[in-house]
Amino acid sequence: MNKKTALTIIFISMLIFACSTSKKQVYLFPTEMSPTTQNAYQDICEKGKVLYNLHCANCHNIKKLGKDIIPDFTFEQLDAYLIRAANERHDSDLTEEKVSAEELGMVITYLTYKPKSGHLVPHKYTDRH
Ligand code: HEC
Repeated sequence: MNKKTALTIIFISMLIFACSTSKKQVYLFPTEMSPTTQNAYQDICEKGKVLYNLHCANCHNIKKLGKDIIPDFTFEQLDAYLIRAANERHDSDLTEEKVSAEELGMVITYLTYKPKSGHLVPHKYTDRH
């Protein structure tokens, strides 16, 4: 292998590495939100995503062709009070000891700004109220 080929390979590897590590999840923040606030929210969303996968995904993700789809919750549905108190499954499974108010807040922030999957939470979830 000559020097030029070696350098080209090194350059391409660095490029691939740079691209793969800087790949950030994109969230739908309002344009009027300042970049500093967006950065702070980005961190909260990342934590909320982990917590969602841990505490909510089992019951709420939609399985399609072997893929896990995170549904879109409406603003009304995301009202933190409703989530805690709206139904029996939450009453028994989402206790304060399991998911604190702060953690729930992060999950709500994540679900508010995550990219839309185009799959609304099924009607049975909302029609009860
Ligand atoms: C044990 C299963 C279970 C877990 C875990 C769970 N949910 Fe639910 N959730 C439900 C069910 C069942 C409903 C629908 C209730 C109904 O039909 O009345 C629901 C409804 C909702 C709704 C809609 C409420 C409304 O008023 O329409 C939201 C928002 C929601 N869940 C968010 C969450 C979040 C956020 C988490 C994780 C912190 C979570 N859920 C964890 C079972 C679960």
